[in-house]
Amino acid sequence: MFAARLAARAATSAGWGLQLLFWLFLLGTTALLTENTLPYFSFARDLPFLIEKAAQYQDAVWRVAFYVHISGGLLCLLVALPQFSRTLLRRAPRLHRALGWTYVVSVLGFAAPTGMYLAIFAKGGMAGRLGFIVLGAVFFYTTWRGLERVRARDFRGHAAWMIRSYAMAASALTFRVFHLLLFVLGVQHEYELSIWLSFVVNLAAAELFLFWRARPARSLALGDSR
Ligand code: HEM
Repeated sequence: MFAARLAARAATSAGWGLQLLFWLFLLGTTALLTENTLPYFSFARDLPFLIEKAAQYQDAVWRVAFYVHISGGLLCLLVALPQFSRTLLRRAPRLHRALGWTYVVSVLGFAAPTGMYLAIFAKGGMAGRLGFIVLGAVFFYTTWRGLERVRARDFRGHAAWMIRSYAMAASALTFRVFHLLLFVLGVQHEYELSIWLSFVVNLAAAELFLFWRARPARSLALGDSR
């Protein structure tokens, strides 16, 4: 009895520890990506990525797509974070709705379509371009489904699709982690590998989380049917 209680308490503490690590990772990488993105808004051309893209930068369409992309991308990442707070949803549902609309518009109107356009000229050859296009399409689709579910007043479905959508937005975070890791390990084709890894791993993690979260409901349902 005592051992069971101790094991339950240890499991709860481990759960809290994991949650804390998860949020520290999200906040830390979001802060780093924000710091990496803000200098572009000075419209300086001597930033490493823009120097690399000097030929594309001559094209006004690419330039507009790029600035719209980083604005939409940064905005959706920042407004998404407070959306996971149940307290905010309960105490300030209007704020949740306003941030939600900001997220949806910044993804569907800005970040995802421009990301798919930039993909045509991206590094990493065919595999890299295809990776960005698939990621952009999944990002667009999951966000659209999140919006469509809340309009249908299916709040459980809305939450599930928005978790998948955020997992796609967060691939901008995990991409940079994988890229650095594979580069340090000297893995070839690290750029294109990081693109695919970032969103496949994030989507798998989102599905695992949704599966785990539905567990009590599922076991109850099984119990009912017996
Ligand atoms: C949602 C958060 C996102 C943010 C904050 C973001 C930010 C950025 C930034 C700052 C760059 C410039 C490169 C750099 O400095 O590393 C960039 C490039 C790019 N992003 Fe995003 N991005 C996001 C999501 C996405 C998504 C979902 C796609 C998928 C379509 C995407 C596709 C691209 C492409 C194709 C490039 C150009 C890469 C190249 O030319 O090699 N981004 N993004």
